Amino acid sequence: MRDQDVFTQVGVAGAGFMGSGIAESTARAGIPVVLYEPEEAALTRSRDRIDASLHKAVAGGKLAAGEAQDLLDRIAWSTDLRALDGSDVVIEAIVEDVTLKGKVFREIDAWLSPESLLASNTSSIPIAQLASWTQHRERVLGLHFFSPVPVMKLVEVVVGIETGADAVLRGQAFAEAIGKVPIRTKDRAGFIVNMLLIPYLMAAVRMYEEGFASREDIDTGMKLGAAHPMGPLTLCDFIGLDVLYAVCDSLYEEFKRPEYAPPPLLKRMVVSGHFGRKSGRGFYDYAGAPAQARA
Ligand code: 3HC
Repeated sequence: MRDQDVFTQVGVAGAGFMGSGIAESTARAGIPVVLYEPEEAALTRSRDRIDASLHKAVAGGKLAAGEAQDLLDRIAWSTDLRALDGSDVVIEAIVEDVTLKGKVFREIDAWLSPESLLASNTSSIPIAQLASWTQHRERVLGLHFFSPVPVMKLVEVVVGIETGADAVLRGQAFAEAIGKVPIRTKDRAGFIVNMLLIPYLMAAVRMYEEGFASREDIDTGMKLGAAHPMGPLTLCDFIGLDVLYAVCDSLYEEFKRPEYAPPPLLKRMVVSGHFGRKSGRGFYDYAGAPAQARA
């Protein structure tokens, strides 16, 4: 690690499933984190989510009970975005809504030191567009995490057309500092992983939509036949169908190739509010599962 790659505080804007996971992984590496959400209720859900995740880590022998408490003590939750000021890295992990992201990026860029990195966990919005809302485009980059963040080792470091070489190195150093493996990708829809993953998942959705096989058989096929930890339809529900729809849409918009077009069923499910695990219904029904397990 270079001398300048010291991370004394990290800010995370958006305390949903991804933002909370990024905060947990960062705090686990000994770095203090401030997590922001405008609503107190969302912060409470974030605390519960991290608590539940740490319980799993302790139960699985990945973390000692005392370490879990120390980790929690390194996380501060705030309804004031300005509480992220003073961070060496700020990671935006709010919903995939261009208008909302624009507002948050403009605001953070106005007071965050130009020396600090301003990153997004977006999986569907061009980094160039996020950077265009800022005065310091060279420090804007993508740090794309994978769900569940505390378990998944990968971070895609997304290099926008105006991202500076130093920001890329610091982004990589940050990923390594929190125990992740960075891979570098250019800024185009899907980056590396979603460009490969989405056609596979959408092929499974189409197979189900056409009535070719049952959802259980499609999932069992890939779990037992290809050793995937989850079948594709379970994985769709896990990622969130709204998120997948946004990624498909951006891939289709960019490349106009049929394998990226969101299948009609996916669109119907999303407009009906069937987002998967988090809404209680997707390809499977989760209504009986505790809210914490779904969020
Ligand atoms: N910290 C550290 N380790 C933890 C932990 C935590 N907070 N919580 C759980 N673990 C460990 C457990 O100890 C266990 O370890 P083991 O395998 O050595 O026993 C392991 O993680 C799995 O945990 P659980 O058994 O509790 O299993 P879960 O049911 O919670 O999770 C899964 C299983 C990890 C989700 C697994 O099914 C899986 O890997 N699924 C695929 C996930 C995937 O593909 N994600 C990528 C989605 S794409 C994406 O995110 C990009 C976006 O842009 C679309």
